[in-house]
Amino acid sequence: MARNKVTVIGAGNVGATTAQRIAEAGLADVVLVDIVEGLPQGKGLDLAEAAPVVVHDARVFGSNDYADTAGSDIVVVTSGLARQPGMSRDDLLTKNAGIVRSVVEQAANVSPDAILIVVTNPLDAMCHVAMEASGFPRERVIGMAGVLDSARFRTFIAMELGVSVEDTHAFVLGGHGDTMVPLSRYSTVAGVPITELLPAERVKALEERTANGGAEVVALLKTGSAFYAPAAGAFEMVEAILLDRKRVLPCAVMLRGEFGVDGLFVGVPVVLGAAGVERVFEIELTAEEQTAFRKSADAVRELVAVLAR
Ligand SMILES: NC(=O)c1ccc[n+]([C@@H]2O[C@H](COP(=O)([O-])OP(=O)(O)OC[C@H]3O[C@@H](n4cnc5c(N)ncnc54)[C@H](O)[C@@H]3O)[C@@H](O)[C@H]2O)c1
Repeated sequence: MARNKVTVIGAGNVGATTAQRIAEAGLADVVLVDIVEGLPQGKGLDLAEAAPVVVHDARVFGSNDYADTAGSDIVVVTSGLARQPGMSRDDLLTKNAGIVRSVVEQAANVSPDAILIVVTNPLDAMCHVAMEASGFPRERVIGMAGVLDSARFRTFIAMELGVSVEDTHAFVLGGHGDTMVPLSRYSTVAGVPITELLPAERVKALEERTANGGAEVVALLKTGSAFYAPAAGAFEMVEAILLDRKRVLPCAVMLRGEFGVDGLFVGVPVVLGAAGVERVFEIELTAEEQTAFRKSADAVRELVAVLAR
């Protein structure tokens, strides 16, 4: 049986790190694609040359030609411009929409059965572009953001309480951006909600740090944005799909009435398996959470409206 094949479009920080994680886990053969000549080839060769030391047999190479990506099981889209300090995710909208449309059209053409994992920002809006450009059903167009946002929340919970990250669990809903909705009453340490472990003002501070998690890293780096944790998030989704793990992970999906939203990509918990999004995992929200979720969905709606103009 042949190994699975994953194409990662964009050989920049997030793309190359995602490719490295997939290859080094021996999860799939990886094709790294970029518009810059030599960049994906160079990084692909470098990754391949690490294989004897790291010990895996996955094939990794880079290309500027989509013909090399044909028959991919998963296509991870990271191509685009990264946020610079002071630049909002939304500033990236028009530029990245053009890039995502072009790369998804080319990739979908040669891998018509692939599952798309979109990473490029502004995430939720780019998912709309990817779905339209590919013509794929909603099960096969999935945005990576919630996994990263909840990883950040878990990190801050573990730091605050001095516990292992492994024993933390975090729930984050909504669009990827300033309107994301961390659900603290479902965020736990060994099953105990953090709302029972921390005073309300500390819970609020952790929620706010999570919502600003991307900007915090951008401000420190000064050039470029976070990529280790985003690549780890994309990897977790790839693994859940290729190993048909039925993981329950927060992902951006096209909602069709779930959570009271219709026709928009918003982050919600889903069951991820071999078919992609196998189920939207609906939960009851309090009135306050529902309001925050709707506000988040409205922010996505505005971006999609800008794209339509
Ligand atoms: N969803 C998330 O949670 C999340 C997290 C981090 C980064 N991001 C986003 O991911 C994207 C990539 O971030 P990065 O840090 O890797 O940026 P980067 O600048 O390091 O890499 C982007 C790569 O895309 C390539 N590219 C540009 N246009 C292309 C095209 N038409 N075809 C193929 N490749 C093309 C560039 O040459 C570059 O190598 C950004 O939009 C960033 O905002 C999203």
